Amino acid sequence: MDCLKDWPEPVISVETLTGLLTIPERYIKPPSQRPNITTTSSNLNIPTIDLAALRQGLDDHEAMEGIRKACREWGFFILVNHGVEPELMRAMRGVWRRFFYLPLKDKKRYANSPATYEGFGSRLGVEKGAILDWGDYFFLHILPPCMKNHEKWPALPTSCREITEEYSKELIKLCGFLMKVFSRNLGLGEERLQEAFGGEEVGVCLRVNYYPKCPQPDLTLGLSPHSDPGGLTLLHVDDHVEGLQVLKDSEWITVKPAPDSFIVNIADQLQILSNGIYKSVEHRVIVNSSQDRISLAFFYNPKSDIPISPFGELVTPPERPVMYQQMTFDEYRLSIRKRGLKGKSLVEAIKPT
Ligand code: OGA
Ligand code: NI
Repeated sequence: MDCLKDWPEPVISVETLTGLLTIPERYIKPPSQRPNITTTSSNLNIPTIDLAALRQGLDDHEAMEGIRKACREWGFFILVNHGVEPELMRAMRGVWRRFFYLPLKDKKRYANSPATYEGFGSRLGVEKGAILDWGDYFFLHILPPCMKNHEKWPALPTSCREITEEYSKELIKLCGFLMKVFSRNLGLGEERLQEAFGGEEVGVCLRVNYYPKCPQPDLTLGLSPHSDPGGLTLLHVDDHVEGLQVLKDSEWITVKPAPDSFIVNIADQLQILSNGIYKSVEHRVIVNSSQDRISLAFFYNPKSDIPISPFGELVTPPERPVMYQQMTFDEYRLSIRKRGLKGKSLVEAIKPT
């Protein structure tokens, strides 16, 4: 694990590059990976799901079916009427924006290492000379309690820790609820999915992404294509600026954010547990020259040392044999951290031979 102790070269915060006229070579993607931001994008958007009808119980067939379809066909949906107070969501986004607007030296106190990634950082992966993404971030652990360390969370702005706590509490509830919906939709008992994640002992972490303005947005990406490694992700993004793109039928669809909504996406461990019935879909982030952008990615993951493999009920050969080998989330995450973000190659790599 020695290679994960430190970064292979000094880390440059992207915010320090925002005033340049041209971006450093390290951020220029090969032509095939550059975003096509000048071509007009299609009007397609990811589906919107209204949770109101299900908040009293999971028996609204139409709403359940809508989620089922979104999970199978998109792996991504916009969630409205989810029960989390809009004021709390705005306060959370506001406090983190204020954090990123603090002087760099105040943020560098929390500079992270590739051993845990916790803290303020600007790169993923430890490959020397890698082409980098145009974004800074703050990563922190919320669950299990033994991993949570307030000392590693920003002390400033003063309300940051408190608001992040409150936000997390609400989102953990919402994720628990979605787990029941997904479990039921997979034809399993309501609690099965949560149990497979370790019941109360799930892992939860947060990555706040900050994408500074970029002088040449057509040459780079805020975040390279990837699928999220964990269970499911609740993303809350700035609603006045676009950035997230989702791969659908080999085309990058730009997500049009809705105010006070969450963007929900299926991540790799749900793909594995569902034996491929649900897919964790590749996504990436584009940047722009006129506005910075904040996003909060809330990751809900299985307990890290539980072996994860497809549910027996969902293994139905010959059409659907076992699609993935058993692996703990710890093992899975370690290999990602060594390699950095590389599309969906990891979940595909653990198919039995
Ligand atoms: C992520 C992610 C998307 C965004 O943090 O995993 O996909 O819009 N973020 O920042
Ligand atoms: Ni992601």
